Amino acid sequence: MRKSAILITGANGEMGHGLIGALHQKNNVNIVALDLNPLDGSISALVNEELMGNILDQSLIEQLNGEYEFDTIYHLAAILSTRAEFSPQSAHDVNVGGTLNLLNLALEQGRSQGRSVKFFFPSSIAVYGFSGLDEKNSSGAIKEDSFRNPSTIYGCNKLYCEHLGNYYTNNYQRLGAELHHRYIDFRSIRFPGIISSKTIPAGGTSDYIPEMLHAAAKGKSYKCFVREDTQIPFMTMPDAIQAITHLMSAPKDNISRTVYNIRSFSPTAEEFRQKVLEHYPKAQIDYEISEKRQKMVDSWPADTDDSMAKNDWNWAPAFNLDLGMKDYLIPDLQQMYKN
Ligand code: SER
Repeated sequence: MRKSAILITGANGEMGHGLIGALHQKNNVNIVALDLNPLDGSISALVNEELMGNILDQSLIEQLNGEYEFDTIYHLAAILSTRAEFSPQSAHDVNVGGTLNLLNLALEQGRSQGRSVKFFFPSSIAVYGFSGLDEKNSSGAIKEDSFRNPSTIYGCNKLYCEHLGNYYTNNYQRLGAELHHRYIDFRSIRFPGIISSKTIPAGGTSDYIPEMLHAAAKGKSYKCFVREDTQIPFMTMPDAIQAITHLMSAPKDNISRTVYNIRSFSPTAEEFRQKVLEHYPKAQIDYEISEKRQKMVDSWPADTDDSMAKNDWNWAPAFNLDLGMKDYLIPDLQQMYKN
């Protein structure tokens, strides 16, 4: 007998931390956590099984298929955007090849269970791309189907995987079957930058915002690697997690598309710096621009239009920037760095 469970890949990453915490609180969920590295102590007690391994390892994928009956797969493992630019081939292998392996696992699972397996895929504002700052600045909050011209390998990987998710959902179904007989129910969110109080991202390009805040909380100086007028959307980690759980539990009939924008606030780097200074007046934050990373963020939208998510599954962030700082980030950071 295979064991019923949900699977989380990239479980030890930033989003994995938040998602494991949230899913653990639900009854009757057996969490199988997969990561290259051992899980942090803070989350390892919250999962039922912890597996160390690589999503590119076919024998591991087969082992998972043989041992478990997954009703949902949260495929979070990825190489983030800055790191991906340094090794585009590995980024492609992990971000695309790894996703393909997990989609094939979901397909096998859907076929053997005779029902559709839910598949969550975190996409990104990096799928968008502008020809230059003029186009970015004149485009405002953009909708899901416009400006999908990624200029980073990470953005290319994410956009292609969105399409793969669509393909697997629409192509693999019992002949003549209705929507509910598809083997895979792929749902994806294009996340903006995410700010967590508990973790700092590794290898992303929206990292200047969380890094600035964590440095201030630790009493360390920080050099922001993008210009002060740089603007992309952000949200807090609790809102990112509640978005995932809402989207994944939304009735199928309400879901009119596979990929949704969401966003909470969209400060410039300087506006965020000022906000940090309100809470940490002694913080030392300067600018030292990385041309490569600036170019990447300049190709991403200043804001996105999240009306589809609002309409279809009642997406609503709990935190704007002020509340997020006051009620979530600052109290947690004070706890975390009190010594
Ligand atoms: N936050 C991610 C990064 O910077 C983009 O999705 O890579």
